[in-house]
Amino acid sequence: MIFYKNKTGLITGASSGIGRQMSLDLAQRGTRPVLLARRKDRLEELADEIKKTFGIDAVVIEKDLNEPGAAAWLYSHLKEQQIEIDILINNAGFGFKGRFLKGDAATYRNMTDLNVSVLTELTYFFLPDMLSKKTGGILNVASMAAMSPVPYFAVYAATKSYVSSFGCALWHEMKGTGVNISTLCPGPVRTEFFIVAGAKEGDAPERTVQTAREVSKIGLDALAANTMLVPTSASLKFLSKVSSVIPLKTNMKVAASFMKESDV
Ligand SMILES: NC(=O)c1ccc[n+]([C@@H]2O[C@H](COP(=O)([O-])OP(=O)(O)OC[C@H]3O[C@@H](n4cnc5c(N)ncnc54)[C@H](OP(=O)(O)O)[C@@H]3O)[C@@H](O)[C@H]2O)c1
Repeated sequence: MIFYKNKTGLITGASSGIGRQMSLDLAQRGTRPVLLARRKDRLEELADEIKKTFGIDAVVIEKDLNEPGAAAWLYSHLKEQQIEIDILINNAGFGFKGRFLKGDAATYRNMTDLNVSVLTELTYFFLPDMLSKKTGGILNVASMAAMSPVPYFAVYAATKSYVSSFGCALWHEMKGTGVNISTLCPGPVRTEFFIVAGAKEGDAPERTVQTAREVSKIGLDALAANTMLVPTSASLKFLSKVSSVIPLKTNMKVAASFMKESDV
């Protein structure tokens, strides 16, 4: 696909799940991946796999994006290395499943910082170079949890509503500039996400669970096509249409039932 040929792409959260798969898929499409996460060993293994499979030298950056000033540091660090980012995949993120007061304040602070503030700052720092080249794009990984408030996933869903609102507004602002902006809304995906969020194996009905491979392909195709908002399956597209026309309280009741009220 021409959009991805001879480009450099930064993937946050490349050590696992959707970000790992997107890193492989970007390499396959001709983009040199810049792999960022906290677990360096995982990133190095992935870089080796990318080199062996596609003959591309991925760049590894071990960084905790929750450190103050991480986004600004990253932008200048890459500039010093003369690495210019054409494609940004804002993917790193996490959630907490449970009643609001069962979580702790520090976790919520880290979640809102990572899912919201860091994503915004990375966009702010990397977008100008794309605009000056009139090419490239940003893929924001939101969630179906962005479509409605989600009881027992309250802070996470609120952060993903922000991602969706911000991403769609930016898509409008970038029209005609040559820079693509897409926001991806997966439902449940088989990754480490639910373990990190404190959910149980099998919490989501098996038939609704997608693989990182499916979601990655849909996301990368959507960014190349500059699709604004992307639920990752036909049933999620239907759900997003329905949720935009039914009352908020009904939406929340449905969302709460997905979170298995009795478990939390
Ligand atoms: N899985 C789902 O069901 C699902 C559904 C909808 C949306 N999403 C969204 O998809 C995105 C990717 O999640 P996933 O499902 O692939 O989960 P995952 O397997 O847990 O991957 C999360 C990634 O984020 C990285 N990360 C977490 N905190 C970080 C930090 N402070 N600094 C740098 N990197 C950090 C992790 O790497 P390290 O731990 O090595 O730092 C890991 O690579 C998230 O934004 C999530 O909200 C997931």
